[in-house]
Amino acid sequence: MPVNYENEIFYSLEELSQPINMSVKELENFLDNAVSTHINRKEIRGIPHINKLELEVIFEKVFSFKGIPEDRKYNIPDYLQNCTLPWANTLVKMYNHKINFPAALSPEQGEFVKSMICNINPSNVVEIGCFTGISTIWMAAGLEQIDSEATIHSIDLFDEILPWLPHRYGYLSDPLKYAQTCALSAGLAHRITFHKMNSLEMGRRFKELILHPIDFLFIDGDHTQEGCTSDFMNFYPFVSPGGYIMLHDIYPEHCGWDGPRYVIDEWLSHNPNLSLVEIKTSPNNFGMALIRKLA
Ligand SMILES: C[S@@+](CC[C@H](N)C(=O)[O-])C[C@H]1O[C@@H](n2cnc3c(N)ncnc32)[C@H](O)[C@@H]1O
Repeated sequence: MPVNYENEIFYSLEELSQPINMSVKELENFLDNAVSTHINRKEIRGIPHINKLELEVIFEKVFSFKGIPEDRKYNIPDYLQNCTLPWANTLVKMYNHKINFPAALSPEQGEFVKSMICNINPSNVVEIGCFTGISTIWMAAGLEQIDSEATIHSIDLFDEILPWLPHRYGYLSDPLKYAQTCALSAGLAHRITFHKMNSLEMGRRFKELILHPIDFLFIDGDHTQEGCTSDFMNFYPFVSPGGYIMLHDIYPEHCGWDGPRYVIDEWLSHNPNLSLVEIKTSPNNFGMALIRKLA
């Protein structure tokens, strides 16, 4: 856990060494020898710590030291690259930020979700798990395209995003600010309400903060069995009859998470009140499920 010391945030070398997959000794050597900029280390309770403001420099140096290519990102299709609408320009910029690969929806998956929104024409959209806002912008662009009056409530912890090698190659100190800035530049801020909170709390405070029944619920938050089950169970009662629920990352063998699969197998596949279709996704077959609440 980061430490607040004299109103500044510090991380211990031990906790920093874990996400970047180095031993504490290797990280110390790296800081002594491979980083040209001087990085201050502060002893807090006898343990060396680094100021949060210096993390970005360190992580960038670590990536290049480890030979991680700069261009790890989704392939952006020409139609998106060449589109002149503000939301498309913003998505292209976001896809060029390496924080978004592969945690965010790919362009193919985003286009699919946008198309679902355009076809279903929901009055109220709720998203659990916004990350940096890519999925949110795809859905909001769909609402904009059909000239709907609907808005999206997007819930996330919005914690600082650390790299987690070998899967995540980026650092973002303030994802909420990033998502808000992107929504603005996409011309879609009027469609999105971001909620920085745990989905468990939102489940408890739904009637106070969201009020209206959900017609389209996108669940892409806590991917553990327990987390995904509680998101489904806590929000399902607020989905209107005939409403849709979309689960992301349903194929554990590809995405590495088993929560959404568990929810489908344990709770949904034999439920006569639901219809469910599984969808292959590209370029990584993390998979999605589209569920309709029949009654
Ligand atoms: C895979 S990312 C979402 C990607 C995003 N939907 C996209 O396509 O751009 C999962 C997100 O869920 C959030 N999350 C995890 N557990 C959560 C919880 N209990 N409440 C709210 N958000 C949570 C994380 O902070 C993370 O940003």
